[in-house]
Amino acid sequence: MISSFYEKIVGTSPPPEPNEPKILCVGLICLDIVQVCKTFPVEDSDQRCIEHRWQRGGNASNNCTVLSLAKTPCEFMGTLSSEQHLSFLQDDMRKYKINFAHCPMLEGAGCPTSTVILSLTSGSRTILHHNPSLPELTFEDFAKLNLEEYCWIHFEGRNVTTVLSMIKHVETYNNSLKNSTQNDNSTDSFHLPITISVELEKSNEQLLDLLPYVDVAFVSRDFALFRGCDNMSETLRSIAQEAKSGATIICAWGDRGAMARTPDGTIVQSPAFPPAKTIDSLGAGDTFAAAILHYLNKIKFSSNKSVQPMKTLSEKLLHNEDPETKSNEVKREIKQNHNIESLEQSHTEFIDSVVLQSAVTFACRVAGAKLGLKGYDGLDKIFKELQKV
Ligand SMILES: Nc1ncnc2c1ncn2[C@@H]1O[C@H](COP(=O)(O)OP(=O)(O)O)[C@@H](O)[C@H]1O
Ligand SMILES: *[C@@H]1O[C@H](CO)[C@@H](O)[C@H](O)[C@H]1NC(C)=O
Ligand SMILES: *[C@@H]1O[C@H](CO)[C@@H](O)[C@H](O)[C@H]1NC(C)=O
Ligand SMILES: *[C@@H]1O[C@H](CO)[C@@H](O)[C@H](O)[C@H]1NC(C)=O
Ligand SMILES: *[C@@H]1O[C@H](CO)[C@@H](O)[C@H](O)[C@H]1NC(C)=O
Ligand SMILES: *[C@@H]1O[C@H](CO)[C@@H](O)[C@H](O)[C@H]1NC(C)=O
Ligand SMILES: *[C@@H]1O[C@H](CO)[C@@H](O)[C@H](O)[C@H]1NC(C)=O
Ligand SMILES: *[C@@H]1O[C@H](CO)[C@@H](O)[C@H](O)[C@H]1NC(C)=O
Repeated sequence: MISSFYEKIVGTSPPPEPNEPKILCVGLICLDIVQVCKTFPVEDSDQRCIEHRWQRGGNASNNCTVLSLAKTPCEFMGTLSSEQHLSFLQDDMRKYKINFAHCPMLEGAGCPTSTVILSLTSGSRTILHHNPSLPELTFEDFAKLNLEEYCWIHFEGRNVTTVLSMIKHVETYNNSLKNSTQNDNSTDSFHLPITISVELEKSNEQLLDLLPYVDVAFVSRDFALFRGCDNMSETLRSIAQEAKSGATIICAWGDRGAMARTPDGTIVQSPAFPPAKTIDSLGAGDTFAAAILHYLNKIKFSSNKSVQPMKTLSEKLLHNEDPETKSNEVKREIKQNHNIESLEQSHTEFIDSVVLQSAVTFACRVAGAKLGLKGYDGLDKIFKELQKV
């Protein structure tokens, strides 16, 4: 039922056009060295592993992999080390059709590496990170982008100060767009304002500073626990207090599935869909979030092109020609958040409870199916099937 809804909304939309705007993921790329063991090794022991492989890692980079497998045009942006492993990473991005044309290439620092031990018995994954101080992306790198190429930007919340300056840059762009589309209705009108999402992960309190500026926030379980929340509803309630009015908040929680909060405060939820046998739990979180991005981005476009009229609040608002009434109506609909003085509210009217419910269920299905796959190969088929049924 959920999937047929999805079909109804996006099924009839045309295949990606060559210059369809991309989703840009800003963050880290690294090399993952994965060892698959029967059981987790005992310290100071000597044991064989079942399998050894290299894979391209880094959250933003993985996010692109999944988006690309879902056939959403995407680009990765982060610093690349010109030292060892560069060609491995570049070849792999080419293989997955991930654009990386704007990544600065730096010399003198090695590539970040993660060694991952997967235990088949327990399904656990143990990760050892090593970052030989490869400098992070700077605002100047980001400012060189032509933002017209993008419809959505996802930030891996790394350096908060830098990410904030990037977000402000996008805001200026959004505003300039508002002005120009009011004045002329020519061919250019297809530039939609950029939607911003971030992921809050790790125990980094500073990431909360990003919340007042984002449209869609992904909150990881680690981050929730760190905030003292031990279930999803508590997490959503707590994070919503600091988010921009009208933001969407999404929280995934392993085998408990996921829960999310719409711009107007409605809570939706999906159970997990575990596979018959867990093969590889690395990247379930990436898969989940990328599936959400893919889904919501499609909806964003189909609502704007009015492909399938839906009798919902979001639809009515999106079809309202007059921008003034539009924003007034939204303001009445959404409770103002008084903790925030900054910024106008988020304009993600395309995300209502029906849309978000379907997005979360879709993403849990994709993430569940991913647990039964080694790496990401095969996810493209899963996307295809889940979007078809
Ligand atoms: N053990 C599991 N069983 C079933 N589904 C899972 C499991 N772990 C993760 N998932 C699926 O992946 C999604 C993302 O979970 P998350 O906890 O963010 O993953 P990660 O462990 O990669 O951080 C969940 O919402 C759920 O749908
Ligand atoms: C990637 O995300 C996972 C969970 O979302 C987190 O545990 C991990 O630390 C992140 N990796 C990096 C390099 O930030
Ligand atoms: C974030 O980036 C700024 C500017 O590049 C830098 O000065 C600062 O030290 C960085 N902060 C962290 C925590 O890395
Ligand atoms: C757009 O219009 C608003 C108000 O109409 C104005 O304040 C703002 O400076 C304009 N922005 C640009 C980039 O022209
Ligand atoms: C935009 O379209 C409207 C209605 O189609 C028309 O009246 C108006 O003149 C157009 N404006 C410009 C700048 O072309
Ligand atoms: C979630 O956590 C809060 C606070 O710890 C608690 O009050 C609430 O009952 C919990 N809800 C569920 C469904 O467990
Ligand atoms: C990107 O990957 C990380 C985990 O590696 C995940 O937590 C995050 O939600 C992903 N974000 C998106 C938008 O795919
Ligand atoms: C860009 O515009 C969109 C749509 O109006 C809005 O949701 C978003 O918050 C804006 N982003 C920023 C950074 O202002």
